[in-house]
Amino acid sequence: MYLECVSVPKGRSVPIASSSPDRMCTPADPASSQRSEETEKLIKKSHEAKACSYSPYSKFPVGAALLTEDGRIFTGCNIENSSLTVGICAERVAIHKAVSEGCTKFKSLAVASDKKENFITPCGACRQVMCEFGTKWEVHMTKADMSHMTMTVEELLPLSFGPEDLETK
Ligand code: THU
Repeated sequence: MYLECVSVPKGRSVPIASSSPDRMCTPADPASSQRSEETEKLIKKSHEAKACSYSPYSKFPVGAALLTEDGRIFTGCNIENSSLTVGICAERVAIHKAVSEGCTKFKSLAVASDKKENFITPCGACRQVMCEFGTKWEVHMTKADMSHMTMTVEELLPLSFGPEDLETK
């Protein structure tokens, strides 16, 4: 595995591990034919999940689709509230739906918005919630055209504080 730098939104550049063709591709790119059926389906479902977004305040619909290790898919959308701080992101809705049904082992999550130029990237709170359920699984961040960039939870939140850090050893 080697690291490659990719340009991401806000003019920043981050190293991503690029061992798999699935890590980054655009529909116009021949690499997209190497996108697995599983990733393709998850990304499609994350975009479909935007349809239920309740975002009258930001007018920024977000969708997410979470694949569990046992093959189930849970979708989520952002749900805002007139008391602004109690709104919740699409990623956390999908994760909490899964946990509430007994699934805590995740393989990957796709996240979607209508942004055309930039990949949608999860907020810090969502990254922390992701870390609670392991750091090795993958997050596919997409653009409106369904192109994607993949990073592991560990890459999204390095040096995270997780359940094992509560041990006083
Ligand atoms: N949002 C998400 O649902 N996921 C993200 O990755 C980024 C932001 C939501 C929260 C809020 O409802 C709206 O997008 C604008 O911040």
